[in-house]
Amino acid sequence: MNLERLRAETRAEHESTESVMPLMQAELSQEQYVDVLRKLYPVVRSWEQFALANAPADLTETIQGRQRAGLIAQDLKVLNATAGDDARVFPAESVPGLESGAPTYRASFLGAMYVMEGSTLGGQYIARHLEEVLGLAQGKGDAYFRGYGEHTGEMWRAFKGVLGEVPEEQADSVIAAAKAMFEVFREGMTA
Ligand code: HEM
Repeated sequence: MNLERLRAETRAEHESTESVMPLMQAELSQEQYVDVLRKLYPVVRSWEQFALANAPADLTETIQGRQRAGLIAQDLKVLNATAGDDARVFPAESVPGLESGAPTYRASFLGAMYVMEGSTLGGQYIARHLEEVLGLAQGKGDAYFRGYGEHTGEMWRAFKGVLGEVPEEQADSVIAAAKAMFEVFREGMTA
């Protein structure tokens, strides 16, 4: 499928999700940052649990190698804050095509995954900003946003390789799932 079209068709959703995260503010306080992490944790964790249990067989290993919720918990500890909600269940019913047995399940799953994996790109900019305004040492309190660190580019290219192989006739399913996943994320951040 055409990945430029995916990026273009989800640009508005990216912007609206980005706008509810105050992370790039010049005067971001540690309290605000901790608040973001505490909201982020259940969103990311619930997706990862769902993904581990429900990944299409050929994507299980990819999913296993891309777990990052633990980094948020680690960051909260470094910042002397308590972890966020541990009990949230991923609202799979909010993402079209993620019903088990749906004919384009794999395409929809990859659409949701695109949102989580793409967030590692912005994460690199966010991490540098956090280090600057909050005086964090690299990876100490911003491990989640540092994410795959120097491997970010290669992890993203590998994922794009998988995504690019989705047949064009399933592109609409990928895009619909990605849009819904941005919304799940945005809702989690504003709850
Ligand atoms: C303050 C918050 C955010 C900022 C500043 C930000 C910034 C960015 C930037 C600069 C890129 C392009 C990076 C590049 O091409 O090298 C990007 C890509 C992306 N971001 Fe974000 N982002 C933010 C939040 C998020 C969140 C919360 C999500 C997901 C829930 C997300 C999902 C994505 C995706 C999927 C892409 C890949 C777009 C593509 O190339 O197809 N971003 N972001």
